[in-house]
Amino acid sequence: MSNSEFEKFIDTSDEWIVSHTGIKNRHLAADNEFTSNLGSKAARIALDRGGIKPEELDCIICATSTPDYPGFPSTACIIQNNLGAMNAGAFDVAAACSGFVYSIEIARNMIMNGAARNILVVGAEIMSRVLDWKDRNTCVLFGDGAGAAVLSSNAGDEHRGILFSILRSEGEGAEYLKIPAGGARLPVSKIHASNSQELFLFMDGRRVYTFALRAFTGIIKSILDIHHLSHDDIDYIIPHQANIRIIEGAAKRLKIPIEKFFINIAEYANTSAATIPIALNEMWEKGMLRKGGLLITVGFGGGLTYGGNLIRW
Ligand code: ACO
Repeated sequence: MSNSEFEKFIDTSDEWIVSHTGIKNRHLAADNEFTSNLGSKAARIALDRGGIKPEELDCIICATSTPDYPGFPSTACIIQNNLGAMNAGAFDVAAACSGFVYSIEIARNMIMNGAARNILVVGAEIMSRVLDWKDRNTCVLFGDGAGAAVLSSNAGDEHRGILFSILRSEGEGAEYLKIPAGGARLPVSKIHASNSQELFLFMDGRRVYTFALRAFTGIIKSILDIHHLSHDDIDYIIPHQANIRIIEGAAKRLKIPIEKFFINIAEYANTSAATIPIALNEMWEKGMLRKGGLLITVGFGGGLTYGGNLIRW
């Protein structure tokens, strides 16, 4: 869906959206598709490329804020059934746009302590179903999508994989980015027709923007400092794609050339937990990922959560 299509039903323009966010298009799931469908499609490609059979998976982690069902069953369980991964445990991680960063660190720890050999990590979202399509402040910003990765024990090649992660939360900012109703605080049964917008995503854009810039720069600086690295040692930084101005602002503050950042927000908008695995997939398909090269991922979003991973590909 292109920006110009919004001009037909809300007071906005392609020019405003591109200049304020860098977004040109977003992809929307079909009515008969659910988060688990998108996640399963991505998972099958990842398993195929990794040469791993579904029955070889010990666990499936799905990072999502737009699960098929609220609470349970988890979307990971639906994906497990779709794949026929009969030996896998399955659970969701609710860390909003930081979900993939959180989930691969959880998977790494399960593998390193010997609890699992192969773990499928999926980032999947259908943001279009939690948006108020009359609210120009939010509906232009998000898209639907999924990406997946299979993490396996790297015995014999210990220098590669996820080397280090930082996971953080600022719960005092929980109110700045939320879906107000549908949970235990405001159950659907208590929603009246006049406040049905409470079922949709709410965002205090300016506060989230300020947080995002601070979180983003802090994570990259910490990862580089802790490991005595300079940005010259890093092949690419793969940021959560929320707004190109956040990425450009962080690049400027950190004095890191913008070319170091992989950016595809123009085509997909913000797909929350799916932005980083979608980016990794595109980079892989374009041959941008060099064996042994260092990557940094950075996520930030609802919670407010944030974090990053240092990966040797
Ligand atoms: N079209 C036209 N005008 C718009 C639109 C639109 N789509 N959206 C907002 N405006 C208007 C506003 O109404 C406001 O008008 P007003 O001054 O008359 O009230 C004006 O544009 C400027 O609003 P600002 O909030 O100052 O716009 P800003 O330049 O800050 O951009 C944005 C807003 C894009 C939301 C920005 O604040 C942002 O990117 N925030 C961070 C979002 C983010 O990082 N989210 C990540 C996490 S998402 C997750 O975890 C699920």
